[in-house]
Amino acid sequence: YGTQAIGGNGHLTIGGVDSVQLAKEYGTPLYVYDIELFRKRARAFQQTFESAGIGYQVAYASKAFSSIAIYQVAAQEGLSLDVVSGGELYTAVKAGFPKEKIHFHGNNKSLDELQMAFEEGIGCIVVDNFHEIGLLKKLSEELKQKMNILLRVTPGIEAHTHDYITTGQEDSKFGFDLNNGQADQAFDQTYGHEYLNLLGLHCHIGSQIFDTAAFRMAAGKLVAKMSEWQEEFDYQCPVLNLGGGFGIRYTEQDQPLEPSEYVKEMIDTVKRISADSGFPVPEIWIEPGRSLVGDAGTTLYTIGSMKEVPEIRKYIAVDGGMSDNIRPALYGAAYSSMIANKGHQALSETYTVAGKCCESGDKLIEQATLPEAEAGDILAVFCTGAYGYSMASNYNRIARPAVVFAEKGKHQLAVRRETHEDIVSLDLEYGVKAELS
Ligand code: LLP
Repeated sequence: YGTQAIGGNGHLTIGGVDSVQLAKEYGTPLYVYDIELFRKRARAFQQTFESAGIGYQVAYASKAFSSIAIYQVAAQEGLSLDVVSGGELYTAVKAGFPKEKIHFHGNNKSLDELQMAFEEGIGCIVVDNFHEIGLLKKLSEELKQKMNILLRVTPGIEAHTHDYITTGQEDSKFGFDLNNGQADQAFDQTYGHEYLNLLGLHCHIGSQIFDTAAFRMAAGKLVAKMSEWQEEFDYQCPVLNLGGGFGIRYTEQDQPLEPSEYVKEMIDTVKRISADSGFPVPEIWIEPGRSLVGDAGTTLYTIGSMKEVPEIRKYIAVDGGMSDNIRPALYGAAYSSMIANKGHQALSETYTVAGKCCESGDKLIEQATLPEAEAGDILAVFCTGAYGYSMASNYNRIARPAVVFAEKGKHQLAVRRETHEDIVSLDLEYGVKAELS
């Protein structure tokens, strides 16, 4: 992936930096991001729009990995930012991210969170439901402050990893149903409001999608709705946000297209239908998360104990696990790996990679083909950059790993490792010093 390579000493290098050295310097488990690869992915998306000569925004869906440092790289690359909570918004503000390029998502934004969005003067709110419309009207009228909004709709396309289905109605907690009048009702309630500026429509049909047909179909359904509103209300919809979800390659079984290929298909569809229906091509916004950071991230672990279950399997255990990457336990997600200090050795063994959490299901990789492993080896698990650190927990009171950015032979700490002190920092004593109140 990206700038990863095997150095002359057989060590895995990331961004021109020896990963074994990184493990030594920062400790393990360690998340290492290849920042050049992140930049490359961002530019590929932008270039696709530039070549098509179309207005656009590429928003980094930062739920995939949220930190001040990655927001600063995203800002350097001219990306917009998708945030989904007060916490992500606060991180963006702390990072100095351009506020007018922040888009706020979520199916149950609180009044406090919406208030924060108004105070910070962010770029737009992606409105999810009727309750939120009510809150937004009340807030904007009280504050006498304008806000750009998009309406999130569910077009009735359920995309799964390798296929998709279309249904009249989608059973989703998100958005206004496009097929049963909800979206039209949301339009009625917001279009022409004194303070809410309806920028357009949004949909996100799923994640880790491989099939371009699903994106084409979603684009088609949204453009059809736009053209209906144009005919009926003379509404010129300026923006179409088609979400994220572009699949990436975790293992050899995954065969995605280049992420920007999916975008090309979207653009072609929107252009074609717009031309057919005779209205101006809207700006297209997308919000990739996984396809920007997924393969840029690698987790380094130190191998410790081993166990053989005769005739069944050999376990190797690492110093992290479901506490830093819950995806295998939660979704059965598959990853590929290597022993970072044995890049030149033959792949002679098959191991199950276990974590250190007190739970039998804490396995990171069912079958990893590796050289013979010894305690002290560094195991690199690839493609952990999306929904790895961001979904990490303190289960078993295990401290969350550090995150390091590597680029052009240099490295820098982006998130420091949690300490035991951090872990008890929110805890209060009970019945020791204070009387009950
Ligand atoms: N936009 C919206 C509205 C979303 O809900 C999501 C992801 C994205 C964009 C970015 O999707 P991406 O490009 O990253 O596929 N935790 C799961 C993934 C959950 C995705 C949630 N929404 C995982 O680890 O696979």
